[in-house]
Formats: sequence, structure tokens, C-alpha cells
Amino acid sequence: MKKVAVLVGSLRRESINGKLARVLARLAKDHLEFDIIDLANVPMYNDELWENVPEAVIELKQRIAKADGVLFMSPEYNRSFTAVLKNAIDWGTRPYGQNSFSGKPGAIIGTSPGAIGSAVGQSQLRSVLGAIQVVVMGQPEIYLSWNDDLVDADDNVVVESTKRYLETWVDHFTRWIERLAPPA
Ligand code: FNR
Repeated sequence: MKKVAVLVGSLRRESINGKLARVLARLAKDHLEFDIIDLANVPMYNDELWENVPEAVIELKQRIAKADGVLFMSPEYNRSFTAVLKNAIDWGTRPYGQNSFSGKPGAIIGTSPGAIGSAVGQSQLRSVLGAIQVVVMGQPEIYLSWNDDLVDADDNVVVESTKRYLETWVDHFTRWIERLAPPA
């Protein structure tokens, strides 16, 4: 089964993006193995830290390297994606010449309580991912306008149309990763 490293740009325990990551992991479990990486201990990027690399950075880069694909999830903050996610991306691309993301198939998902479901933040993220050589899936996109009634406490989707839509996304992303997998 293909493995997906998941980077979530919110550190909140009650994060709706973190919740959506767990919901997707559950929905995808027969097709994709999700590795949701905790970014709470990743320090703000500083070139000098390469002299004594923080454990959380080593782990972040190793887990991205081991993954067959990467899923980027973020809230929209002030019409962009969050600093937490940008910081993790910056670490992942360095040291120069050791970009952990290079050539990986990727996808973007976000949710927000607002009507446009993080669409503007995702658009900015998409341009960054192009620059770091993530091969981003174009469609289907998920701009989810969050509502607590969409899911239950056990990370199941309870609204049938939303479930079908997320399942379609899982199906496409699985095929996207398989299509871009290096030859065995
Ligand atoms: C927000 N929020 C927000 N929502 C949105 O749809 N567009 C936006 O531009 C912003 N801007 C913004 C800035 C800052 C600093 C904060 C803290 C929040 C609201 C945001 O979508 C909401 O708090 C989500 O619940 C955050 O996602 P998590 O942490 O629940 O995953």
C-alpha cells in the first residue's frame, strides 16, 4: 500500500484541518496509509540550526523521504496558508540539493468555516509547491466549508454526499501516486 506523508498547517488540538486529516485517513485506509506528521516541535527555520539539526527536523525529512506521496493541508490565514506549513516546507527543501519533496506526487486540501473553504490559501500553496518540485494533482480539488455536523467523534463522515466526494478524491489521489511511482 502506498504511503502518504501528511503535513497539517494547524497546531490546534481541535483543528478542523487536523480532524479532516484523520477523517481522510480513515476513509482511505484500504488504499493509502496516512502518516500524519506532528509539526509542533519543528522550530522556525534558521540556517544555523543545520550545525546541530533538531530531532523534529530530521524526523520530518525522513518521513517525507519514505512517503510515496505528500498531502498538504492547511487552514487559510489572512488569505494564505499558514506559517506552520510554510516553515515545514522550508525545512523539507534544505540543505540545498537535499529537497525531500523533489518529484513526489502531492495534493492540497483545506477546510475553513468560511464559505470559500480555504480556496485562496490553497491557490497560494499551489504556486509554492510548483517551485519545490512537488507534482501536484490538479483535480479534484477540495475546498470544504466546515460544519461540525459533517463528521462524528470517531472520524466518520456522516453526510453521504460529502463522503462520496471525499472517496472520489481518495480514488484519484491513489491513482495519481501510482501513476507517478518510480519503476520497481
Ligand atoms: C483565520 N481564519 C480564516 N478563515 C478563512 O476562511 N479565511 C481567512 O483568511 C482566515 N484568516 C484567519 C487568520 C487567522 C490568524 C486565524 C487564526 C484564523 C479562520 C480559520 O479558518 C479558522 O480559525 C479555522 O478553524 C482554522 O483552522 P484549524 O486550526 O481549525 O484547522
